[in-house]
Amino acid sequence: MGFLLVDKQGHQNQRMVVFGAIFLLTTLLILYSSNSGSQLYFSVGASNHHYVSKNTNLKTWSTRDTYVPVYGNKTFSLHCGHCALVTSSSHVLGSGAGREIDGSECVIRMNDAPTSGFERDVGNRTTLRVVAHSSVFRVVRRPAEFLNLSTTDMSVVFWGPPTKIGRDAKGTLFRLIQRVSATYRNVSFYTITPSKMKKFDSLFQRETGRDREKSRSWLSTGWFTMVIAIELCDNIKVYGMVPPNYCGRKQSKRMPYHYYKPRGSDECAMYLQNERGRRGNHHRFITEKQVFSRWAKHYNITFSTPTW
Ligand SMILES: *[C@@H]1O[C@H](CO)[C@@H](O)[C@H](O)[C@H]1NC(C)=O
Ligand SMILES: *[C@@H]1O[C@H](CO)[C@@H](O)[C@H](O)[C@H]1NC(C)=O
Ligand SMILES: *[C@@H]1O[C@H](CO)[C@@H](O)[C@H](O)[C@H]1NC(C)=O
Ligand SMILES: *[C@@H]1O[C@H](CO)[C@@H](O)[C@H](O)[C@H]1NC(C)=O
Ligand SMILES: *[C@@H]1O[C@H](CO)[C@@H](O)[C@H](O)[C@H]1NC(C)=O
Repeated sequence: MGFLLVDKQGHQNQRMVVFGAIFLLTTLLILYSSNSGSQLYFSVGASNHHYVSKNTNLKTWSTRDTYVPVYGNKTFSLHCGHCALVTSSSHVLGSGAGREIDGSECVIRMNDAPTSGFERDVGNRTTLRVVAHSSVFRVVRRPAEFLNLSTTDMSVVFWGPPTKIGRDAKGTLFRLIQRVSATYRNVSFYTITPSKMKKFDSLFQRETGRDREKSRSWLSTGWFTMVIAIELCDNIKVYGMVPPNYCGRKQSKRMPYHYYKPRGSDECAMYLQNERGRRGNHHRFITEKQVFSRWAKHYNITFSTPTW
């Protein structure tokens, strides 16, 4: 008995040593990977100028038929002189920019960002809504709110992996999009073709030096919307987008990530956490904005609330 007890304790001690070693190793690994993560981040930032020379001309980078109609045979041929790109950020709140936005030739919005109740700051017209596969349900659940049925010149572009929104997708999402498109015929619905989706990925790689998949990055709806806006518009005024170096300075006050979710996450907390995230997939909101600030110089883009 006594011997057995000793033996058991010996086993336990051994186990504890093994657990301890695993714990130490894991900690070291996490420390190491977060270190190399930030090095990667800084080296990308530092070599930004390196990618400028390889700029893709977004006015000519692909043909228009890369947006295919979900229903019927319309072609996405929208062209606008002056566009308002209204972000979903709470930085638009209190701007009183609604009238100016509505005065733009085309008004571009994202996902399920509402206008009703926020007209003073974001206006009430929508020419184009760019919608992520993950936001489709929220948009079609309240069509009267997000699809302007009283005009015939509104378009919706859905983006997402071909397995989700492609014509050959077996899932319910594409069928839902099809049903909605057949129901609301005076709104034009388009999806981004699989080949164009790949081009968005390679654009990210060319502009940031990072392979999107290997760097475990998710493109944001903002990325798609900005590129589409550049394709369509001669001039763009962006409302509510902070500059790339904005977060990480001392923040005076919490700013919700979405203007229509006052209790939602803080925008900078969200941006910083995503930018630094290495395990799992993350949005790279800050990296994307570094690219936008370069594009701003080439494509007549200005930023309002905040101005930069
Ligand atoms: C497009 O659709 C309309 C009506 O559905 C039809 O009259 C027209 O012939 C079609 N055009 C082409 C090029 O298929
Ligand atoms: C909303 O639209 C109406 C008419 O379409 C317009 O008269 C009004 O000024 C708009 N409101 C705002 C706050 O822009
Ligand atoms: C629909 O569009 C008109 C004019 O563009 C605008 O006045 C109205 O507020 C819009 N309605 C919705 C629900 O967006
Ligand atoms: C849009 O479609 C609805 C029916 O779905 C119709 O009642 C409405 O008059 C249409 N609007 C225009 C401007 O054609
Ligand atoms: C910038 O805006 C001017 C005036 O609207 C336009 O002529 C020019 O083509 C625009 N440049 C680009 C790159 O879109």
